[in-house]
Amino acid sequence: MVSYGSKDDNIISIGAEAILLLDEWFGLPAVRKIRVRKKYRETTLDELIRRKRTLIEARLLIAAHEKGVPTPIVYDIDKDHYSILMEYIPGTKLRDIVESLPVKLMEKIFFEIGYHSGILHENEICHGDLTTSNVLFVREREAIFFIDFGLGAFTNRLEDAGVDVHLFLRSLESAHTSVTKQAFKAFINGYRRARSQKTVKMVLDKVEEIRSRGRYTSR
Ligand SMILES: Nc1ncnc2c1ncn2[C@@H]1O[C@H](COP(=O)(O)OP(=O)(O)O)[C@@H](O)[C@H]1O
Ligand SMILES: [Mg+2]
Repeated sequence: MVSYGSKDDNIISIGAEAILLLDEWFGLPAVRKIRVRKKYRETTLDELIRRKRTLIEARLLIAAHEKGVPTPIVYDIDKDHYSILMEYIPGTKLRDIVESLPVKLMEKIFFEIGYHSGILHENEICHGDLTTSNVLFVREREAIFFIDFGLGAFTNRLEDAGVDVHLFLRSLESAHTSVTKQAFKAFINGYRRARSQKTVKMVLDKVEEIRSRGRYTSR
């Protein structure tokens, strides 16, 4: 793997797909997300997939930002090293703090996530891995940011929007059982703000269908 001369203490996260390093861009704090090699994949295919996912993630981050959805600004893309340099968001994963939030603030945050998810879908952007792990929360500003679009796509298929909402609901059910109902209600209220009544109904029907499918087969 390419070395960026980073010390271990610059490591923010090591995941299955990518490592994230603290970096800088013209003096601004930045994050470098580098897609790592998967040893079980043949080299040419592996490089192709990493390059493709890097480009797609950057394009989706940029498109979302242009539509007013809070995402880190993309500073640079290096497709030959499978990396994206982006704005550093001084926040915590929503997943780690949901339970500690006052109810009103929790509802406000989930409303916003729902609203911005609706805006994404209205603009044919699907996140692909919409969970509370992929939303950062900056407490001082009470602001949220969507990250990790690496599994996303530009698509207007109802199924893809349904999968986003389904995954989000599932992440609430598995990680935040005590607030699932309230949080999902707030999310849907926000989602309704961004999309027509008819579309919301179609998406929710699709979510039901996906969930009933899931009851017979495991995803
Ligand atoms: N722009 C950013 N600013 C600050 N932290 C970030 C940023 N992007 C990612 N992170 C941190 O790195 C973690 C992993 O990033 P993510 O894009 O979700 O990759 P993965 O595919 O490994 O889940 C996030 O959960 C978050 O803690
Ligand atoms: Mg992630």
